[in-house]
Amino acid sequence: MNCPRDWPEPIVRVQSLSDSGIRTIPERYVKPPEARPALISSLDDNANIPLIDLGGLLDDTLRESTLRQVSDACRDWGFFQVVNHGVRPELMDQAREVWREFFHEPMEVKQAYANSPTTYEGYGSRLGVEKGAVLDWSDYYFLHYLPINLRDFNKWPSLPNSLREVIAEYSAQVVRLGGVLLKILSINLGLQEEFLRNAFGGDDVGACLRVNFYPKCPQPDLTLGLSPHSDPAGLTFLLPDQQVPGLQVRRGDGWITVKPAPHAFIVNIGDQIQVLSNAIYKSVEHRVIVNTAYERVSLAYFYNPKSDLLIGPAKELVTPDRPALYPAMTFDEYRLYIRTKGPKGKSQLGESLNSPK
Ligand code: OGA
Ligand code: NI
Repeated sequence: MNCPRDWPEPIVRVQSLSDSGIRTIPERYVKPPEARPALISSLDDNANIPLIDLGGLLDDTLRESTLRQVSDACRDWGFFQVVNHGVRPELMDQAREVWREFFHEPMEVKQAYANSPTTYEGYGSRLGVEKGAVLDWSDYYFLHYLPINLRDFNKWPSLPNSLREVIAEYSAQVVRLGGVLLKILSINLGLQEEFLRNAFGGDDVGACLRVNFYPKCPQPDLTLGLSPHSDPAGLTFLLPDQQVPGLQVRRGDGWITVKPAPHAFIVNIGDQIQVLSNAIYKSVEHRVIVNTAYERVSLAYFYNPKSDLLIGPAKELVTPDRPALYPAMTFDEYRLYIRTKGPKGKSQLGESLNSPK
């Protein structure tokens, strides 16, 4: 499977469509009836993913129960929110706002960073290269922070002026948090504290940022901002829009709309941790709905293994009763799937698509 050098069709910016004032969305964005937001049952409106105070890790009397909360959330949900995570709240707000400003720069400024399917770096409007695919109602920006040889500030927007500095600082803090979580997950899985970090390549871990921009949509019942998918990543740290909900997490046959806690990160298990943990932890499907009244900005930070290491189930977690469920594969090989086919539920891990095609 190879990525083509260019998109199969001319790229249309969803933001331009939205700004043009159209009252009906183009056919390309209309999902088949079974995949539309309203037609899949929503669960109890009060349901939410677990919220965990990581401050407890530093307190001898709370440490055990905090580890346990993370363990339960990883096993039962695959998704949780964390507060007191060590990333400065003001920096989180600044990071979201510099990206909002970027998306409101004139189109020529953004087009200078237009991306291609070979690396996906830069300003993009689709995931996947299948001609004629139904598209999602969003634009995005994708960039690399680690490994350091992939960090190229020229590929980060130069406007607004503060963006590079704010995002470099934000990246450093999120990556530090990623290291903390990898230790906790290792301990909770009964492995050596450094196990997952070493499996990810130690100092050579990967970290990349996908900033999602979901413009207002005149017919939100017919489309999705982001189709159901699990993240190919190791772990994801999502900074959601504080004002505008949109992220939905699969729970049984329905979807839970996440209600973001102030200055929390939404953390989720990615496919690489599902593979390494031999499915003790599962990456959970999620999607994004859009609305008529408000645009939405979110920052998804993906903490990944070094891209050319083989990732397979940890041998400590493979037993006669629980044989290895997945073959080993590099992250480079793994992510070609979503980069070619676009978001398609959990089909890559051999699990049938829950959401009808
Ligand atoms: C993603 C993602 C959710 C959101 O970028 O992979 O799932 O709320 N984003 O934007
Ligand atoms: Ni995702």
